[in-house]
Amino acid sequence: MSAAMDPVTLMKQMVGYAAADRVQSNSVVGLGTGSTTAFAIEGIGKRLQSGELVNVKGVPTSFQAIVLARQFGIPLIGLDEADHIAVAIDGADEVDPQKNLIKGGGAAHTQEKIVDCLADLFIVVVDSSKIVQKLGSTFLLPVEVLPMAVVPVMRQIEKLGGKPVLRMGAKKAGPVVTDNGNLVIDVKYEAIEDPLALEKTLNNIPGVLENGIFAGVTDVVLIGEIVDGKPIVREM
Ligand code: 5RP
Repeated sequence: MSAAMDPVTLMKQMVGYAAADRVQSNSVVGLGTGSTTAFAIEGIGKRLQSGELVNVKGVPTSFQAIVLARQFGIPLIGLDEADHIAVAIDGADEVDPQKNLIKGGGAAHTQEKIVDCLADLFIVVVDSSKIVQKLGSTFLLPVEVLPMAVVPVMRQIEKLGGKPVLRMGAKKAGPVVTDNGNLVIDVKYEAIEDPLALEKTLNNIPGVLENGIFAGVTDVVLIGEIVDGKPIVREM
């Protein structure tokens, strides 16, 4: 741990490393996306370098995960080579009491959902600010859409009661383009009463690739929080 780290980054590091500690030798690991999972990837890499872990291969969920895995020395394989994913570690933007998630803050939720859902054990790593009573209360719901279908999909989402906006790039003119070459619509809901039903409804709109609701797939949530001025990790 670095003394210069701010408390939020420290929580992310602790929770990421705690998830990395659950990885076992001779296994395939799903490598999620985001600033918290980046610490899990770093932690797995450190354990491989020290010899504490051997023969671990990663299945990446994004270009970011590929870059980090290479940086920290984790060999990568594709889903066609992985007959079995033992553990997937990934972040989230919101977590409800039933461990349903909103993901996609990094526009990577389509590949994340494929990999995370295939794992025997799906571990979510978050700091305490991500815990909500109802999904949709703090975060817009990301929906990945084929570029040609953006306008009709937005109209359909509005008819269904959501308020959609096209996600725009930062330090880049125009919209965010995903790792899959698609666009992202962020949808405002007052509160999502039935996450599983909304997940299915949105994915049924022609042109939608995947939305960021992950209902009923999380096994373990590790939460980093500050208690009495000290960062700790607890399991939900
Ligand atoms: C990317 C994601 C991320 O896992 C999610 O946005 C959380 O990221 P962070 O740990 O940086 O808060 O879903 O699509």
